[in-house]
Amino acid sequence: MRPQRADVRDPLFELDWSGGAAEHHHRKACPGIEELPWGTIDVGLYPSALVDAARRAWTEVTIAEYRAYVAFARVLEAMALARVPLDLLGMGAAFVADEAAHVELAGRMCMELGGAAPLTVNMDTFARFPIAEGLSHLQRASDWVVRVSCVSEAFSAATAVGSLRAASHPLSRAVHERILADESRHTRLGPLFLDWLSDRIDDAERARLADVALDTLGHLKPFWQRRISKTTAGVTEEGWKVDDIHALGWLESEKMVPLARQVVTKDIVPTLAGYGIAPDALALDALLAQSP
Ligand SMILES: [Fe+2]
Ligand SMILES: [Fe+2]
Repeated sequence: MRPQRADVRDPLFELDWSGGAAEHHHRKACPGIEELPWGTIDVGLYPSALVDAARRAWTEVTIAEYRAYVAFARVLEAMALARVPLDLLGMGAAFVADEAAHVELAGRMCMELGGAAPLTVNMDTFARFPIAEGLSHLQRASDWVVRVSCVSEAFSAATAVGSLRAASHPLSRAVHERILADESRHTRLGPLFLDWLSDRIDDAERARLADVALDTLGHLKPFWQRRISKTTAGVTEEGWKVDDIHALGWLESEKMVPLARQVVTKDIVPTLAGYGIAPDALALDALLAQSP
């Protein structure tokens, strides 16, 4: 996947491909991708500005999936060093291959629409969270699991349900279905880890993890801070038909913004609260109230 234009100074986000034996083993680890109905979206049916916006949206998804790949690798390292149960490690190990598949799926959606948008990524800070110094291995593992599985993956999975429901083209629907089938498993790791962790931590550690969750939620605020484009009679302020947006596999801001807030309050926070990990209510309200 190569962006069409290289008109920015910073390095562009690009994916490379080896082929041959590497591709053979990748296909064994991530089966089924080739069977999707690639090549079936006729971009000529849609306004070019809308296709450009969809290319950008799918490029952002590709980068997000690549971030999830890196993040799960870090979750695995932290859990292994903390010597968590082997079956939790094995469960998490499969997720890294899943994220590689998601990167490919989203990247191929970009190609389907004419190529990736020219977005840059700073790999020095990529998928890095401000994990405190001096923590034990178990605390570091808890940090990573809360940040990645309990917050980030839970957010991705729940918002992806909205995108899947809307997706109306067979290809965009198949891509969302495939990604969501994996993401719903990825969100299971967090609660299973917390089940095991519960007897091993005290209230002070629960309070620390609540702050960790709140900090991670802060990284998601662009999803509900974006300006909403009002839809009238099925057409957005940009003049795009909502049906076309759905065919290209993404969700209009009028639906995405409230969904993002709802996922935080109805899914992520209650799940964590079930383990006594409760982000400060006032701070959370203030975070969710922020708008453009
Ligand atoms: Fe993913
Ligand atoms: Fe995931």
